[in-house]
Amino acid sequence: MPGFEGFSNVHLLSHPLIAHKLNQLRDRATSVRDFRALVRELALLMAFEATRNLPTERRSIETPLARTEGLFVDEDQVVIVPILRAGLTMAEGMVTLIPGARIGHIGVYRDHDTLAIHEYLVRLPPIGRQTFIIVDPMLATANSTLHALKVLNDHGVPDERLRLMSLVTAPEGVRALATAHPRLAIYIAAIDQGLNEKGYIVPGLGDAGDRLFGTT
Ligand code: PRP
Ligand code: URA
Repeated sequence: MPGFEGFSNVHLLSHPLIAHKLNQLRDRATSVRDFRALVRELALLMAFEATRNLPTERRSIETPLARTEGLFVDEDQVVIVPILRAGLTMAEGMVTLIPGARIGHIGVYRDHDTLAIHEYLVRLPPIGRQTFIIVDPMLATANSTLHALKVLNDHGVPDERLRLMSLVTAPEGVRALATAHPRLAIYIAAIDQGLNEKGYIVPGLGDAGDRLFGTT
């Protein structure tokens, strides 16, 4: 799996289906309905890699023919954390794969002019030894993700039990995040050219929340 600038915690996922669906997502002509479906599908495809080393436990099973044993994921011990709003649709994809996962919500938005982060919601399940997967389609300056990480770290979740899944990223954001959180596993589908003067990723896909929810 290719990395980025020698950061061993950055995993740039390269797969023909991920590239195909991501490029459909970028197309300005893609409808709200298709955009949502693509985000869910991309979350599923990325989850395959991002959950590869989830803790498992061996349990016994009775098949119609014999008793055997096998590995299981303790779904209660997985917490999906969407960064609102756009992370919600990725979380929907994740929940089809891990239906017993818990969901923690972190609501933040960027001020359009200053790019400063405003937090409006934090609702997390009781913190134990779970694995936390933060999901947000966009990583631009990384300020939203850095804020979400601070919230989780402050609630007692160390980076070793956290991972991030994001679709489209800017090199500036990936660099800032990987430097500040070297123990965070970062799974991304693309690193674009960079940010424009308004903090949007170029070429990117525009405003993910607006395209998912039909707002402007
Ligand atoms: C978007 C996106 C990320 C954030 C990325 O959210 O969904 O959360 O921007 O930008 P950053 O890396 O520079 O922080 P936005 O603030 O537009 O809120 P929304 O999802 O409610 O539209
Ligand atoms: N948030 C978005 O939704 N799109 C960008 O390009 C940057 C931040």
